[in-house]
Amino acid sequence: MQYIQGRQYFEGEFNLPGDKSITHRAIMLNGGADGEAVITNALMGEDCVSTCRCMRALGAKIDVDGTTLRITGTPRFRRGTELNCGNSGTTIRLLTGFVAGKQIDAKLYGDESLSSRPMRRVADPLALLGANVKTTDGHAPVYVIPAPLRGTEMSLLISSAQVKSAVLLAGISADGETRVSEPVKSRDHTERMLAAMGANIRVNGNSVTVGKSVLKAMDVCVPSDISSAAYFMALGALKGKTLCKNIGINPTRTGILNAFDRLGVKYQLLNKRISGGEETADILVEKSDMRAITLTAEDVPAMIDELPLVALLCAFADGETHITGAKELRVKESDRIRTTAELINNLGGDCRETEDGFIIRGKEKLRGGDIDSYLDHRIAMTGAVGLIASENGGNVLREDCCAISFPDFFDKLGVKRG
Ligand code: S3P
Repeated sequence: MQYIQGRQYFEGEFNLPGDKSITHRAIMLNGGADGEAVITNALMGEDCVSTCRCMRALGAKIDVDGTTLRITGTPRFRRGTELNCGNSGTTIRLLTGFVAGKQIDAKLYGDESLSSRPMRRVADPLALLGANVKTTDGHAPVYVIPAPLRGTEMSLLISSAQVKSAVLLAGISADGETRVSEPVKSRDHTERMLAAMGANIRVNGNSVTVGKSVLKAMDVCVPSDISSAAYFMALGALKGKTLCKNIGINPTRTGILNAFDRLGVKYQLLNKRISGGEETADILVEKSDMRAITLTAEDVPAMIDELPLVALLCAFADGETHITGAKELRVKESDRIRTTAELINNLGGDCRETEDGFIIRGKEKLRGGDIDSYLDHRIAMTGAVGLIASENGGNVLREDCCAISFPDFFDKLGVKRG
């Protein structure tokens, strides 16, 4: 349990950890590539450590020195491995596709939370390529049984970068071309990295086509994660002024900036540049008066992990916010529609959950109170931001789960650990 005091003012310049999605992919793709690569500013949160563990089990060599990784890849994966994916949805879903492409058997499993999350969403599209992937009643453990893959075309019903990436990572080993389209474009780090590593890949709007490819190892300098910066950006908007440095601003990830535009949050993108094939900038955010907004399904994929925090901001915005089309939040590390609504209400806000989103009546001030993370890192960090912005503060219960994506979150926040 961590006590957090309400504060009048919050200001500072922050260097945030490396991007989680890009770190996962840099480890996986280099782990399965021909040659050696160095990854810098890698996130060494628990989820990415899970990816390292799995890639080592499959035969890659990975040396870790702080946030620098030296990887020697292995295009041929070890057979018959048991891959412990911990809490990480990205690890289990992407690796299921990658392993299925190699025509080897493997068992992929994880913790209690991961074992409750849906896996047919990867098993079914992979089956269209000819893969034999068995789930346990739609969940982990997932068993990959060797089968030859043939490329095909498919339209996904949900926009999910994890599902799309699983198909692409299987598709690069299939005979013929594989084309996958999704309703709204989800994050495209896999596509970008595959292209940069020499894969045979074409992107056309929301469709991606891959053919058989051999991956060449590639050094990656990972930008800092906008999903981690978001907590500090929100504190700037609520309580003062923050500058988050070297943040990845890939357009499939900047939905929070679209939410800021609509809420009336004042921000600037400074020092824009390209780093490792991804655009980055320093993001300056200042205290702003906010007004209620409407968000729909089209807005969701680019801010999927920031939605609990965006909902919290709406709890401080003038008027009634309506968020729809966010049903995917129900199958994250917790049911984030339920846990976010509870979080806001426990702070003294007014948030009603709907089947696929929220209705939030903004208030000028929130009193504070105790917040349970439900072992979900994003809920713990959103709770901490809400408490700093509140009048009386309160406790975050089961806060250690922050280590999944942001091990030194409370230190960066200037909160004494007790
Ligand atoms: C991720 C994709 C998103 C996101 C998750 C990381 C990725 O999940 O919520 O934190 O790295 O591909 P979905 O693709 O299932 O929406």
